[in-house]
Amino acid sequence: MCGIVGFVGKSQAAPILLDGLSKLEYRGYDSAGIAVRDGDAEPVVVKAKGRLKILAEKTNDGAAVKGTCGIGHTRWATHGEPSENNAHPHCSDDMNVVGVHNGIIENYQELKDKLIRHGYTFYSQTDTEVAIKLIDYYYKKYQVGPIDAIAKTMVRVRGSYALAVMFKDYPGEIYAARKDSPMVIGVTGGETFMGSDVPAILKHTKDIYYIGNLEMARLRAGEVTFFNLDGDEVQKDITEIKWDADAAEKGGFEHFMIKEIHEQPKVVRDTINSVVKDVNGKPELDFSSVGLTDEDLAGFDNIIITACGSAYHVGVVAQYVIEDLTRVPVRVEVASEFRYRNPILPPNTLVVIISQSGETADSLAALREARNRGCKTLGIVNVVGSSIAREADYVFQTLAGPEIAVATTKAYSTQLIAAYSLAIALGKAKGVLSEEKITELLTEMQTLPDKISKLIEEKDRIQWFSSKFANAKDVFYIGRGIDYAICLEGSLKLKEVSYIHSEAYAAGELKHGTISLIEDGTLVVGVLTQSQLFEKTISNMVEVKSRGAYLCGITSYGNYSIEDTADFTVFIPKTDEHFATSLAVIPLQLIGYYISVSKGLDVDKPRNLAKSVTVE
Ligand code: AGP
Repeated sequence: MCGIVGFVGKSQAAPILLDGLSKLEYRGYDSAGIAVRDGDAEPVVVKAKGRLKILAEKTNDGAAVKGTCGIGHTRWATHGEPSENNAHPHCSDDMNVVGVHNGIIENYQELKDKLIRHGYTFYSQTDTEVAIKLIDYYYKKYQVGPIDAIAKTMVRVRGSYALAVMFKDYPGEIYAARKDSPMVIGVTGGETFMGSDVPAILKHTKDIYYIGNLEMARLRAGEVTFFNLDGDEVQKDITEIKWDADAAEKGGFEHFMIKEIHEQPKVVRDTINSVVKDVNGKPELDFSSVGLTDEDLAGFDNIIITACGSAYHVGVVAQYVIEDLTRVPVRVEVASEFRYRNPILPPNTLVVIISQSGETADSLAALREARNRGCKTLGIVNVVGSSIAREADYVFQTLAGPEIAVATTKAYSTQLIAAYSLAIALGKAKGVLSEEKITELLTEMQTLPDKISKLIEEKDRIQWFSSKFANAKDVFYIGRGIDYAICLEGSLKLKEVSYIHSEAYAAGELKHGTISLIEDGTLVVGVLTQSQLFEKTISNMVEVKSRGAYLCGITSYGNYSIEDTADFTVFIPKTDEHFATSLAVIPLQLIGYYISVSKGLDVDKPRNLAKSVTVE
């Protein structure tokens, strides 16, 4: 997704803008640009297609562009192909208004037609140019100030936006506006910073403001003022970011993905500790930070989980775990389907939206659909202050910290903890889990971080195995029950970072078609953590082996009989089988990572992918 940055202060803006944009590269982009103004001089706009380093070269790392007030942008194309012409910043023809935008203006065509009727011309194919010229139009037509011009624009446009705009008549000021797309603002040392996400400004300040939906802000050197749509000033509290700047860097690892795989023990432990408190030596669940009381939970008779990608895969795991522990019916759906299918939402339904970024358009829309239909909603979200975190009735804040790699690992693992905790909390509230069972489950959950660490220690052996399959063409992941849910994530991890085709299959389904694809040497990964289903899946593995498959097994210590069938096995520490995903997923993450590395691919920024899909 696009990234925006802004700066106004005493320092030269361009180098700060370029550095901020570099911290947002993970969001995915195809072009970039900055606009910097020196005093009341006209802004200098420099844009470049391709990687950020091309823009840096064009500006001599920013040294060639003078001025202490500026905005910047990395563009992930939504309207108009990736090109310098379509890159942001976009400007009114007289440079009266210059701006950058993250989001989508859905009614941009009708607005463009309106502006053309009023004499405007357009040089790009972007919706952003329309938005910028609409601001210019209102500014001139009504002879109003920036806040009023932007407010009129906000009322008129449909869609999502995080806007940063400079006005010719207002040197040393940047105006911001937000609806649905993320934006953070920080003030420190007489200077003011803004960005689409915390890493863009974290090296400058940990104290940040989250601008609210349909709010605006005026940034001056060392100060920021917030306004609502009526143009009235609104007060904002500061949020202290607990992450440090290094946390958003690679910390000595070759890639963010492997760094984040290694961070899983810590962030899983942090997330567990956020809801499991030791009381008189016994672990007890404390959902007060989530906002859900036992009474609230006892009132829910159905759960619907909706999410996208890996977050959806967590939902599939959660369905098995919650239903098995609580006998409360759970339905799980991809958000892009849920939002359009006119869903049946029975009374007393809790809709759970899982999202690392909290900005995924389909997941946010699903949340709004659920709320519009009167359902209570729980967001399981990683990014503090994100749209889903702010709009859900209840929020389970996962503590994965900044996840930079496009392929999620640590956020996924913390979402699993949220799912397990919800199941236990629900079972407790419904009175279907005994105190002893709850204590047993929570105690076992607290052992997961160390067990994850133990699995990560096997990375060298897994790297050796993975390098043998760098040229694989098709890889199949098979499992039953929760193991099938684990396969979904293992398969996606491989696909998204290694570009190898892969499918996850409920092992019992193989015979209904897919087995025809098995050829000599085809890699089939069998996941067998559920003891009741172990023999069944072994049979399926024997079936594919007899057709030439090369078998990798992921199973628990003690199931040594698998070595009669599998060519390579990773044994995971024993745990309560409801929690097995947290362990079995580790070797699958490592397999995806190491195959990608052995292919020399851009592990952290895979082609065509973005970290947060904030457009449909
Ligand atoms: C997972 O590795 C992918 N990056 C992708 O499937 C991701 O999980 C999905 O886009 C959902 O993102 P979210 O959790 O931020 O909503």
